[in-house]
Amino acid sequence: AKKADLGPLVGAVDQGTSSTRFLVFNSRTAELLSHHQVEIKQEFPREGWVEQDPKEILQSVYECIEKTCEKLRELNIDISNIKAIGVSNQRETTVVWDKLTGEPLYNAVVWLDLRTQSTVENLSKRIPGNNNFVKSKTGLPLSTYFSAVKLRWILDNVRKVQKAVEEDRALFGTIDSWLIWSLTGGAKGGVHCTDVTNASRTMLFNIHSLEWDKELCDFFEIPMAILPNVRSSSEIYGLMKISHSLKAGALEGVPISGCLGDQSAALVGQMCFQDGQAKNTYGTGCFLLCNTGHKCVFSEHGLLTTVAYKLGRDKPVYYALEGSVAIAGAVIRWLRDNLGIISTSEEIEKLAKEVGTSYGCYFVPAFSGLYAPYWEPSARGIICGLTQFTNKCHIAFAALEAVCFQTREILDAMNRDCGIPLSHLQVDGGMTSNKILMQLQADILYIPVVKPSMPETTALGAAMAAGAADGVGVWSLEPEDLSAVTMERFEPQINAEESEIRYSTWKKAVMKSMGWVT
Ligand code: G3P
Repeated sequence: AKKADLGPLVGAVDQGTSSTRFLVFNSRTAELLSHHQVEIKQEFPREGWVEQDPKEILQSVYECIEKTCEKLRELNIDISNIKAIGVSNQRETTVVWDKLTGEPLYNAVVWLDLRTQSTVENLSKRIPGNNNFVKSKTGLPLSTYFSAVKLRWILDNVRKVQKAVEEDRALFGTIDSWLIWSLTGGAKGGVHCTDVTNASRTMLFNIHSLEWDKELCDFFEIPMAILPNVRSSSEIYGLMKISHSLKAGALEGVPISGCLGDQSAALVGQMCFQDGQAKNTYGTGCFLLCNTGHKCVFSEHGLLTTVAYKLGRDKPVYYALEGSVAIAGAVIRWLRDNLGIISTSEEIEKLAKEVGTSYGCYFVPAFSGLYAPYWEPSARGIICGLTQFTNKCHIAFAALEAVCFQTREILDAMNRDCGIPLSHLQVDGGMTSNKILMQLQADILYIPVVKPSMPETTALGAAMAAGAADGVGVWSLEPEDLSAVTMERFEPQINAEESEIRYSTWKKAVMKSMGWVT
């Protein structure tokens, strides 16, 4: 049969904490043509530690590419029309590998990992000048969340890494770097780079000069030779060179030309290009980003300042204020894997619907301490307000409510920092298919929640960056080309007073979760 001619296509790898996907879009219409998704294991070798296998992550990318290409062939779509590939990824997660063998030298230390709590405490005693030293350069508080301390821990504790550094064989990267290096040839000439958005999450990157910061590297004692080159989010980094027995060899030679941390990618995919536009993505965690244009706005209310994107070498940089919540979708996975009260993530909606209330039960999922706006590493998860009446449906409902309350906390902080309250919330991410969650979110925020009909905005953002890169030029980022997105809207249905009562009880529960570990 004759192959469908859809014009140029763009692929995107979306490597999240819980799963990997590869998606292919039509660059003319932004229509999603096909995709494949694989769940990723997380290891918890000790309390508070979270690791992943970098090779499993890479393998999952290969598998997703291969399966998506197969699905495209079945649809009679010509794979040779894929003109570019973008990468979006879980941020901060830290990998060190050997450039001669291509082998990781330690597991990836995941952003959620808490092992560096004492490292952070010790470092904070030695901060030069004033407490603003790290924040003023990076936009970030000194926290276990960011890569510098994870890398410090690896350098201090893994003999293989120390040796590789001495012998000039070690490379450091966040997941984007690890993937791009591997996909562009690995030990046989892979390109060691990252983009400004991912670099801005390492705590080693100066968000004003857009360079690795020598003083920060000295402070964290990080050898600068192992850091990747920092590039813009949209340019050709290298060509696909798959040293792997893979049917996806069809993509051999395709440029990798887009790279954004997943939250930045979602901001681009949601087309939040104007100052003051914001989106909230519900993944493993939950991240509200508001575009602040070319200005670096520093929060007074516990938000981060981060690089939003820089879509081309000669293009200007955009910044964002970010409210980061560590646990959102992860609480559903915990109910599935650790408590076993659901067997698939989708079942949560059914349970919550059965009762339609938490019946006074509150669940603060502070598994990795609390991030924004508290930045409280001593917090741990609690479920409170239980009675003999409470059952698993109420707990399921409370888990969904927790995601919404945490979003309310970061939205309140955002409104205070920006001065102009958001009139509605643009949302995306896997959990937004849960209608109960979306309605609860509108009720708890007391503003409408608006969701695009195509939920894969993170991948779309990476595809847009890749397709728009100089030398690719199959995607135009002009706003008028991007307007035809249909939206689903959830309006608040309870009254404001009821919403406030629930929220203030949540805050009481949050206070109880703090100070569990010292
Ligand atoms: O900062 C961590 C974030 O990038 C993880 O995203 O989608 O895996 O929750 P996600």
